Amino acid sequence: MKTDLIKIALQFQLDGTIDEVKPLGEGFINDTFIIKTKGDSPSYILQRKNKNIFSPIPAMMDNIEKVCQHIKNKVKQNGGDPLREAMTIIPAVDGKLYWLDEEEEYWAVCLFIEDTIAYEAAKTPDLAFAGGKGIGKFQSLVSDLKEPLVNILPGFHDIRYRFKQWDEILAKDPLGRKAMVSDEIAWIENRKEDMLNFWKLVENGTIPTRISHNDTKINNILFDKKGDVLCVIDLDTVLSSTVLNDFGDAMRTYTNTGAEDEVDLTKVSMDLEIFRAFTKGYLEETAWFLTPKEFEYLAFSAKYITYEQVLRFLMDYIDGDNYYKTKSKEHNLVRTRAQYKLLQSMEEQFEEMNKIVNAFATL
Ligand SMILES: Nc1ncnc2c1ncn2[C@@H]1O[C@H](COP(=O)(O)OP(=O)(O)O)[C@@H](O)[C@H]1O
Ligand SMILES: [Mg+2]
Repeated sequence: MKTDLIKIALQFQLDGTIDEVKPLGEGFINDTFIIKTKGDSPSYILQRKNKNIFSPIPAMMDNIEKVCQHIKNKVKQNGGDPLREAMTIIPAVDGKLYWLDEEEEYWAVCLFIEDTIAYEAAKTPDLAFAGGKGIGKFQSLVSDLKEPLVNILPGFHDIRYRFKQWDEILAKDPLGRKAMVSDEIAWIENRKEDMLNFWKLVENGTIPTRISHNDTKINNILFDKKGDVLCVIDLDTVLSSTVLNDFGDAMRTYTNTGAEDEVDLTKVSMDLEIFRAFTKGYLEETAWFLTPKEFEYLAFSAKYITYEQVLRFLMDYIDGDNYYKTKSKEHNLVRTRAQYKLLQSMEEQFEEMNKIVNAFATL
């Protein structure tokens, strides 16, 4: 059945008359559409939110609205344009931040920000620098938002929770794969204590809980035509957590010279120049509010998030490939090895990474 997109768009408080509603890009998580209106009225983004990943959606929308309002106020105080430098959520006709259709699908609308540049990937130092500025600026704008958000992704980047799953899956070993991956299991076990020690600092507040974005891909940052950061979008994953998770995950994805499922491991390594450029951009925006403990663990967070991903791929392999989509029986094992190669490359360059952090920390 073809969804009647115009009917859905009409459920929201839009200015002007709808001209057309058509798909925009290829989001992996949500279905995204653009609503065009006639004349001078603005365009809008319409999204079907993925309720299988985020739950409950109403709480997620409350989180997003809280963050957007906070950023808007900041932008106004700084003399900026709150309609371009922040996301504007458009409520439904009944005042809710979403509309639930007859098939129990959740829809949400925000203002379309015109004349922006979005990059698909950050494979050059210049773009990595821009990405660092984007995520850093976002974190900086919400650094004084003290009210906690609803945790819509329990266990996210929580290694204690992952180890619980790990123990369960190893005990179950449903396909008898465990015996074939004893080296890989040792990779995990050898680093377990280090990782738990870091997470303890988050749990006991030594590393502060702030607002993190949790989807730091560069295509979630809109730039203006001059190339300056305008606005960070895709706020579905905002959480109260450590901001180090954003830094670490960005470095896991930006710096990898190979594909996540690269078979030829000689192609996989951490690109230190990309690390340097991102860190510079990031710290230009965030150095003013980060604590000494956060600086101390910034480079470590890249290893932490990469390690977590090695663990998740391996765990899914042993569990019989239930979580990640796979193209072959060994796909998750290939991913495990490629991600581990990246982790090793970070471990080899760890001293350099810390030097870079220290150099930009005192700018
Ligand atoms: N408010 C907006 N203004 C302009 N473009 C937007 C806006 N929101 C989303 N987009 C475009 O749509 C794409 C997908 O939206 P996003 O919220 O990131 O969805 P997904 O969760 O599927 O990644 C973005 O990468 C961006 O190019
Ligand atoms: Mg996105």
